Amino acid sequence: MRKLMKSTAAVLALGLSIGTASAQMAPFGSDDDLAYAKLIWEAMQAQNLVGDHAIKSFPYEGTAPHGAMLETFYSSATIGDHTGALIVKRNYGPAEVEADQIIAEPGKHLGAVTVMYKREDGFDADNQNWFWAKFLPDGSLDKNPKGMSLAGKVAKGMDKGCIACHSGADGGDYIFTTNAPIAEMMMMK
Ligand code: HEC
Repeated sequence: MRKLMKSTAAVLALGLSIGTASAQMAPFGSDDDLAYAKLIWEAMQAQNLVGDHAIKSFPYEGTAPHGAMLETFYSSATIGDHTGALIVKRNYGPAEVEADQIIAEPGKHLGAVTVMYKREDGFDADNQNWFWAKFLPDGSLDKNPKGMSLAGKVAKGMDKGCIACHSGADGGDYIFTTNAPIAEMMMMK
């Protein structure tokens, strides 16, 4: 009996460690990713890129899968001892929403805030070290249908999602809106 209990415990322990290992292997949505995303959100709040007093720009017509109308901001942020480019896209809807309505009441039309943050070398060398995140307007993270939070190397290695789609951006820098060397420029402080 004692022996049986021991082996049951061993099997349980094995199961647990496999569970932990597979969670660690998921390319995004880990505890570390969530903690890092929180720091990015705080950096955006500090720069008035999000929140009640967020700076406004002229919203322009968007493309799928982002919103019907969009605003894009290029900035940089220091997190820990690393400074990297920070690109913030505000996604507005519904389809027929007009720029004036967004300028008047941005909070009412904001659907999501999608972010690319250039992390330190070695974070994701395959994809130029971008950290991807999709926030809901209240700062919580959006989730995919499997319940995984959209933060980190989102959908790395998959056919669809942030990385797959952005890897097709002109200029090979994962940035669609411009070919200016944003990532390098934003580090020159
Ligand atoms: C099917 C393609 C596609 C997917 C998937 C996608 N994007 Fe984009 N993204 C675009 C396009 C196209 C633009 C440029 C839109 C515009 O005109 O402003 C863009 C722009 C952006 C920008 C502004 C920087 C730039 O590239 O110009 C950010 C930040 C961004 N996306 C984040 C994300 C995040 C985070 C995800 C995943 C949660 C994601 N995107 C998923 C196509 C995609």
